[in-house]
Amino acid sequence: MVARPSPPEVILSMSSTTSPIPACLSSLDVELPLVGGIGARIAGLLPEAITAEIAAGIRKLVYEHKMVYFQGMDLDDERYIKLAGRIGRPQVYFQENYHHPDHPEIFVSSNLPFRGQKIGVAGTGAYWHSDCSFFGQPLSMTMISPRVLPEADRKTKFLDLNAAFEALPEELRSRLENVRAVHEAKWRYKVQPSDVDKSLTELLAAFDEMAPAVTHPAITQHPVNGRKLLYVSSGFVVGFEGLPKVESDELLQAVFKHMEREQFIQTHVWRAHEVTLWDNRQLNHCAGDKYEKDHSTSYRIGVYDKLDFYPGVQGGEGPC
Ligand SMILES: [Fe+2]
Repeated sequence: MVARPSPPEVILSMSSTTSPIPACLSSLDVELPLVGGIGARIAGLLPEAITAEIAAGIRKLVYEHKMVYFQGMDLDDERYIKLAGRIGRPQVYFQENYHHPDHPEIFVSSNLPFRGQKIGVAGTGAYWHSDCSFFGQPLSMTMISPRVLPEADRKTKFLDLNAAFEALPEELRSRLENVRAVHEAKWRYKVQPSDVDKSLTELLAAFDEMAPAVTHPAITQHPVNGRKLLYVSSGFVVGFEGLPKVESDELLQAVFKHMEREQFIQTHVWRAHEVTLWDNRQLNHCAGDKYEKDHSTSYRIGVYDKLDFYPGVQGGEGPC
């Protein structure tokens, strides 16, 4: 791994500590976030030492604090996959062009060649979204391990969907209750070499067949802590089911304007040997720059837990 020294801080915006550390994690170095902040830190974890009880404790921290940072994780690919597999069920992403050639569980974002060949996709997710919200059974959690860090800080922004819900003005909240948002990913499709000579219409139609648009309630509820969540993103949500287009577009813009505000956002600066795991139910995220003149590689593994994504929608056995 090529990596630069760790930047000095994860940017947090709130103060003082919160709930207790699960007893099953007492052998580890765990630091809880500041109140209202996102992310507990865990150091001293070995993938091989993760028992079912420790895995449950880690998931509990993720559900409570929306994210966990594992520090000091100098893992090869096999041990990285083992880490994900101890916590949940690793995803094999539905589009093969993202796969690591040796490990289909690893989704690669990279602008560097691997064994002289292109690997994965250069630059992903630079828009607000929750991973795989465009599936009927979205992805529970996302794990990322940066492998090559650019010279400039590599940052990802996270948006707290519970905080965004809690701050909804009454008028907007009442308009969103019992409304379903339409999630669609085809506009984010990355053209591949095999697409030469195909029209955009053909490519979009093929994507529609592979991953047709789905709907989810605009307001969901977390299956563990019961928090209400504004499960909408400007990256994947294209409208609201059943509303006239003009009204749907106006409501979308009002929701995005409300939620994409600094008060709900925390920025994470990626560090060497740090693996991050977050709850897609509670956070939207937005990747930083594409680093076109700099090198950057990260390995993502989607992780399914066995819980509903929200009450009434099964999780854990997703299609991708
Ligand atoms: Fe993403």
